[in-house]
Amino acid sequence: MTQIARGLQGVYVNETKLSLVDGMGGRLIIAGFPVEELAPNAEYEEALFLLWNNHLPRKAELAGLRREMADQRALPPVTLDMLRAAAQAEMPVMDALRVGVDSLSLSDPAPGDASEEANHRRAVSLAARFPSVIAAFWRLKQGEEPLPPDPKLSHAAGYLYMISGERPHPARVRALDTYLNTVIDHGMNNSTFSARVIVSTRTDMYSAIVGAIGALKGPLHGGAPGPALNMVFEIEERAKKAGQSMQAAAEAWAHEALDAGKRLMGFGHRVYKVRDPRADVLDRAAVQLFQGAGDTKLYEDARAVEQVILRVLEQHRPGSNIKTNVEYYTALVLQGIGLPVELFTPTFAVSRVGGWTAHVLEQIREDELIRPLSEYTGPVDRKWVPLEERS
Ligand code: CMC
Repeated sequence: MTQIARGLQGVYVNETKLSLVDGMGGRLIIAGFPVEELAPNAEYEEALFLLWNNHLPRKAELAGLRREMADQRALPPVTLDMLRAAAQAEMPVMDALRVGVDSLSLSDPAPGDASEEANHRRAVSLAARFPSVIAAFWRLKQGEEPLPPDPKLSHAAGYLYMISGERPHPARVRALDTYLNTVIDHGMNNSTFSARVIVSTRTDMYSAIVGAIGALKGPLHGGAPGPALNMVFEIEERAKKAGQSMQAAAEAWAHEALDAGKRLMGFGHRVYKVRDPRADVLDRAAVQLFQGAGDTKLYEDARAVEQVILRVLEQHRPGSNIKTNVEYYTALVLQGIGLPVELFTPTFAVSRVGGWTAHVLEQIREDELIRPLSEYTGPVDRKWVPLEERS
């Protein structure tokens, strides 16, 4: 009998130098660096350079990348037109990102050039413009005009500036850099695999990145942090109304949700069967952010909810090892930075485009068509019935 690897669970499909996800050991290594070593120290541009070149940039190399990204950040008029139409149609931000990024291919200076150099240039340009697309769309959706990028600001600072029009506090920029570095790459996750599958046909990088955006927005992948934060807010509300402790309200909420067959967002992972190491990195970033702002209530409430949910999950599904994943703390960090919930998943994309483009470049070098098999379970002996004779 054919062995079917449903959901490709446990299947290795390639070799990579980009990241190691150790599901049993709770380790994430990004191009040789443990995530807890890289994420809080690097500026996002350094993490990007690392993934694209497999070494940390020297001073001149980092300055060169910053310059190149600053040159690319402004959006072509055709992309702004598409984003205006998307805002008028009140599209969700991830759909507008997909439309906007697709339109960037219209202003590629050499669309037919499939050389490594041209693809590297595209990777830089795509990563540079993700924040511009999201921020421009977000402002248009609020009835405001997009802001031109400020070439003096870093990638993270520029993103926050283009959204709000205000120069962000360095603590918020540091927290955002830490977040962007933490989620930049994560082995053969669904959106990265999607990008590699697409580009393995020798198609273009835009097609692969647009496909990856579509994969990321699903609630089982990148769509979880918004609902995870809303869950904490709902439990806070319930505790207030019923005069209960956060623990008691969380306990009742979690039992009800699980009894109704719902999944609790921010918990569980296909690969990690222990706590997601990214959750710890972001937990530390959240503590700094909330303590620095002098208001730790939301952080403390979220910690209380997390402890209760882990216990209730274990009661409902003993031994299933459903632990906290990156999205739970993503929600806290992005909320602490001041980003609206609608921008949580798009901000994940601002980071993950680094991993996607690096994997696309790796896949192009590997040049192996990805084409698995499926076991056919339908009939094999049907006879043709003319249209007028069909009942
Ligand atoms: N809450 C309740 N039940 C859960 C959860 C959860 N968070 N996670 C898994 N389960 C249950 C699931 O319902 C299934 O039950 P049954 O066997 O009765 O149908 C069982 O556990 C196995 O689930 P699965 O989907 O087959 O297992 P998986 O390892 O593929 O799940 C997951 C991984 C992330 C899809 C899942 O844990 C989940 O849906 N979590 C909630 C969504 C979420 O937080 N997503 C962000 C993932 S981290 C970001 C990233 O790296 O992409």
